[in-house]
Amino acid sequence: RVVLSSLLLLYSVYAQDNIRLDCYPEGGANEQGCEARGCVWKAASNFDPAGTPYCFMKAEDIGYIATPTGNGDEWSLSKNSGPRSPWGSDLASLKFSFKDIGDSVTNVRIEDYQKRFEAADHVDFPRNTEPSTEHLSVKVRNDSNPFSFAVQRKNGLTLFDTSIGGLIFADKFIQIATTLPSKNMYGWGENLHQEIKHDFTRYTSWGMFARDEPPNSQGLDTKNLYGVHPFYMMMESNGQAHGVLILNANAQEVRTIPVPGYVYRTIGGILDIYFFPGPSPAEVIRQYTAFIGRPMLPAYWALGYQLCRYGYKSLQDMKDRVASVRSYQIPFDVAYADIDYMERYKDFTVGTSNWAGFGDYVRQMHDWGMHNILIFDPAIQADYDSFQRGLDTGASFIEWERQYEVMRSIQDLYPMAKNTKIMLVVVWPDRHVGFPDFLDPTNKTQQWWIDEFKRYHDNVPFDGAWIDMNEPSSFGTNEDHPFFFDDPDHPNIEPLRCPTSGPDADWDIPPYQTEAVYHYGFGNILATKTVCMRAVQGRGALRLYNTHNLYGWSESRTTQKAVYEATGKRGVVISRSTYPSSGRYAGHWLGDNTATWEDLRSAVIGAQEFNLFGIPYVGSDVCGFNGAASEEMCLRWQQLGSFHSFFRNHNSKDLPYQDPAVWPSVAAASKKANEFRYSMLPYLYSLHYSASLNGDTVIRPVFFEFPHDSETLGLSEQFMWGPSILVIPAVYQGQTEVDGYIPLGETSSITYCFYSLYDYSYGQKVTIGRSLFPAPTTFNTPTFVKSGSILPRSPPALTTVASRLLNFNLLIVPNDPDGSYNERRASGNLYWDDGDSVVDDITKNPHTETAFNYVYTTEGKANLTLSVAYAQAPSQPSLEYLEIFDFPSSPTYTSFTLDGKVLSINTQKSKYSPITRILTVYFGSPISFSSAGTQTISWSNAVTMLHTNRVEA
Ligand SMILES: *[C@@H]1O[C@H](CO)[C@@H](O)[C@H](O)[C@H]1NC(C)=O
Ligand SMILES: *[C@@H]1O[C@H](CO)[C@@H](O)[C@H](O)[C@H]1NC(C)=O
Ligand SMILES: *[C@@H]1O[C@H](CO)[C@@H](O)[C@H](O)[C@H]1NC(C)=O
Repeated sequence: RVVLSSLLLLYSVYAQDNIRLDCYPEGGANEQGCEARGCVWKAASNFDPAGTPYCFMKAEDIGYIATPTGNGDEWSLSKNSGPRSPWGSDLASLKFSFKDIGDSVTNVRIEDYQKRFEAADHVDFPRNTEPSTEHLSVKVRNDSNPFSFAVQRKNGLTLFDTSIGGLIFADKFIQIATTLPSKNMYGWGENLHQEIKHDFTRYTSWGMFARDEPPNSQGLDTKNLYGVHPFYMMMESNGQAHGVLILNANAQEVRTIPVPGYVYRTIGGILDIYFFPGPSPAEVIRQYTAFIGRPMLPAYWALGYQLCRYGYKSLQDMKDRVASVRSYQIPFDVAYADIDYMERYKDFTVGTSNWAGFGDYVRQMHDWGMHNILIFDPAIQADYDSFQRGLDTGASFIEWERQYEVMRSIQDLYPMAKNTKIMLVVVWPDRHVGFPDFLDPTNKTQQWWIDEFKRYHDNVPFDGAWIDMNEPSSFGTNEDHPFFFDDPDHPNIEPLRCPTSGPDADWDIPPYQTEAVYHYGFGNILATKTVCMRAVQGRGALRLYNTHNLYGWSESRTTQKAVYEATGKRGVVISRSTYPSSGRYAGHWLGDNTATWEDLRSAVIGAQEFNLFGIPYVGSDVCGFNGAASEEMCLRWQQLGSFHSFFRNHNSKDLPYQDPAVWPSVAAASKKANEFRYSMLPYLYSLHYSASLNGDTVIRPVFFEFPHDSETLGLSEQFMWGPSILVIPAVYQGQTEVDGYIPLGETSSITYCFYSLYDYSYGQKVTIGRSLFPAPTTFNTPTFVKSGSILPRSPPALTTVASRLLNFNLLIVPNDPDGSYNERRASGNLYWDDGDSVVDDITKNPHTETAFNYVYTTEGKANLTLSVAYAQAPSQPSLEYLEIFDFPSSPTYTSFTLDGKVLSINTQKSKYSPITRILTVYFGSPISFSSAGTQTISWSNAVTMLHTNRVEA
């Protein structure tokens, strides 16, 4: 008995040690300081997980007592007698409630009885729900002290469980801790994750606060980057998935703990938690995006290849690089100009000395079938006509709350701003700037912004907007010697200073400052690189402390309207700072990365994560923004980027050129990779349609398609391109082959297999499991197609405008579960529209949707049906040919019929090889499928044979 209880004691000590809730995150912890906070001091041993805090809370005693007040869904919480918040007084009483929203979402709220700031009041989510076979229930343990709750599946599996204690709710410090049902957690952002799956072998703290902070893939770096996404997905042990959103806009962080579990901390708002039950990973994201809003559909041309650089010396410089890339016949759609095109970095201007004729050049690009995206920063210099028009039309800006706070040493320099409270800061322009308030409730600011875009478009007819620096980024806040003092291209103007002491410091120096400060160390504050937390917006009604993380989101929403109104077309917006539902308005690039192999690899993960966040139009700066790119790395990055929806080579100032025309090898590999991408654009565009309509992902983790294959749960460096294509990119220096995993692909009813879609054994089945695949730089990226798929393709062309006019072909890869050739099937679909008109409602946008279904029977008969719904696309190319993998024997070309009528085949171009088993059938004339209804193409084979000895790669 004694032995048993000491074992139990040992176990509980062990358990407690595994759930240490850090009580001294700012560093410099010591025993006295720790105990003064009411916390426990215990050094970690070598056996403890990495990151184990020495100073931790007595979590199991901390919390509230619950008393029912409603009909079983509402409780009043009162602070228990356990330890108190180390960071500001605990609120004595709180409201705890939960409810179902629609068919699948479960919402748990913990809030003050007094109204506090809520992100939900500002982000205007549609809050739609999707049906689910699952329903989650909330179990409240109100007979314990502290109270806790759990969220469970119908089968009793607990997804979220706060019984480890630690619930704290102070005015500026809110904490909740939970254990988790597995260690397979994905998401939370925006951070640089070196693995797609979180690591529960250690304690790790991830900051979430929008900051102009470049990603760093050199070793574990948990810094907060440009956007905030308090959303994660978990894979449970049986292949089921669920998602959780903590809808909060304040500076916040998540700390994973090995148990497994996590501690979530935020310094404002309320706890407003949404659970999405799945049960498949795809359903989780459909449910999440139904709730927050489905992603926008980018213009078709925005899926083309894009080239940019910062530091073009002149329009001529830009023209030369664009011409070089075009001269290699590399498919290429979009050329950008970074802030260089502006007159001294002021929005809505054109550089007078080196950029004259810019508008005409953009018109010329249009004649070539190319498009142009321009950078626009939110910051508007306080002394020129755009700013004056803003003031004249009643636009508002982020401002100081009270007159006396205004920094007169800055304000008095600007006659236009002198009598305003606009918070003037330093960004790229030579003089001070103000940040437009995109949460202006009168909409006057938004209208002014839209009008500026319209006015500018008359001069330079850009097609899309790239919105940068919208964290918002302010140079040198509270710094004595900001970096621009050493930059010959920037005058030494006085940076913003936020109060850090006295009563006015209450917002900028809150009791708990989060990882966004602690990680950066001494001298940093929340306002580092951004505006003061005590600033206000919303005509004085909103505090930046609360709304800071919504700035990029709000700018995206207005800028999408501005692009629509200025261009009359759909175009596209790409935003650096994002928040849940930014995908409705904009895409995202992964920020100011560096030309390293590590950053190339982390881009593979970043693109998958932003698809989970509902922002599928995403990609990295190909070949790296900072640092000089090497030839081999740039080649590999061009190859990887060719699978990302947003596919742009971008380079920083004063660096050697890195466009694909710089190196013949990179030009050749880019041409080849881009041709493959362009041939797949009908598929990629259809994936984006499916994302906009149904909330599907475009790039997705492999486990999305194979949730029951546990090997797929940790695959960081390979991914799916929609449901059908598996990509295993080469992302290491000197690599000549990739070590890839071909999933087992077992679901309850179907077993898939994969066929090579690249230069090695094209069209041949590959073996399941882990293998090495050749990946010389002269081959395309190792790419495999899942059986059962039909992929619509078109021939590549130099631009998407040209490729959209060419006839389609279909790649048919039938399923062959048992190798018996019994009833082989494949299906796929195509979405088509004019590619560039504004989409108000994705279901009503004039388009044509076609479902393709293929069946082949043992009698050697094949049917392919084209079922067209809607049929409203203004023009849709026809079907020119079919390519079918693993086709058993030569067809009888004279047997082809279309809806029973003889269908002529171009036998000259058609071919079948019994070695490769690839059948290519060209129709005598292309088959139109632009009217509603079903057409069936049927044929039979000369001989039916026993099919053995298939070629396997
Ligand atoms: C817990 O809640 C239940 C149901 O709402 C209620 O009947 C019960 O009295 C509560 N227990 C305590 C200790 O408050
Ligand atoms: C501002 O615009 C939003 C979104 O278009 C609209 O819902 C709101 O009513 C407008 N407000 C005013 C004051 O016009
Ligand atoms: C093929 O299509 C024809 C004509 O529509 C139909 O009669 C036949 O049943 C189909 N065969 C299969 C296997 O679906």
